[in-house]
Amino acid sequence: MIAPDTANDLRALLAFYAEAGVDEALEDEPANRFAEASSRTPPRAAAPMPAQRPEREVAQRQAPSATTIRPPATATVPDEAQAALARQLAAGASTLEELRAAMAGFDGCNLKSTAKNLVFADGNPQASLMLVGEAPGRDEDLEGLPFVGRSGRLLDRMLAAIGYDRNSVYIANVIPWRPPGNRAPTPHETEICRPFIERQIELVNPKVLVNLGGPSAKTLLDTSEGILRLRGNWRVHTTRSGVAIPAMPTLHPAYLLRTPAHKRLAWRDFVDVKVKLRELG
Ligand code: URA
Repeated sequence: MIAPDTANDLRALLAFYAEAGVDEALEDEPANRFAEASSRTPPRAAAPMPAQRPEREVAQRQAPSATTIRPPATATVPDEAQAALARQLAAGASTLEELRAAMAGFDGCNLKSTAKNLVFADGNPQASLMLVGEAPGRDEDLEGLPFVGRSGRLLDRMLAAIGYDRNSVYIANVIPWRPPGNRAPTPHETEICRPFIERQIELVNPKVLVNLGGPSAKTLLDTSEGILRLRGNWRVHTTRSGVAIPAMPTLHPAYLLRTPAHKRLAWRDFVDVKVKLRELG
């Protein structure tokens, strides 16, 4: 039987783990994979947790000091060199399969080291309609496919409402690796991943692009405006080779799950998309 204080400590610790993206138990002891990769810094054994600790101590553990956690010796720090390498790899891929292979072999984004899978795309690469979200969540990371969780199910319904499904559209994300704990990707991470999604759009060459949510719109439409202002207005995504693709920024399905009253706005945007696709033949 767990004593009340210990139960509180454990609850706080689990909440901290969940927040940090540690949402599965794999082994009894934690392993520092960054340190293992460097092989210069052997992994440190975790200190066993005493049975009972006052709440103040738990709070201190939640905000570890620089003396307890050091940056791993060879962890990949996002920087311009990695972004340049990503640009080179992306430009060198002449098919989607080559692009997928280049991304799978790329170690320049720190998010890859905590993700389970590369989430490349789902749907039909010949589709006229391409949708781009922000980054995979837990379900997407586990399956290696974009938009398969709750937001994905809503997205499927939104597509069905205008007569489309996953066989008639192509779906990808700006960031192909799940950020731990579903935190927002940093600007550096976004810059490193940007060449890959830009090349993916260029290779699919859709007639219409839909940006699901603010981060996708900001990254791909060269704007800093908020999504509530952007949505519903046609923009243009220009590929590196100069092809101009009409783009509709709209509300992210995860936002719509939290704010169902705004579904009608997304509905309007999707109807506009259908009309545009019909116009473009
Ligand atoms: N949210 C996204 O932006 N992309 C996914 O694949 C899932 C949820």
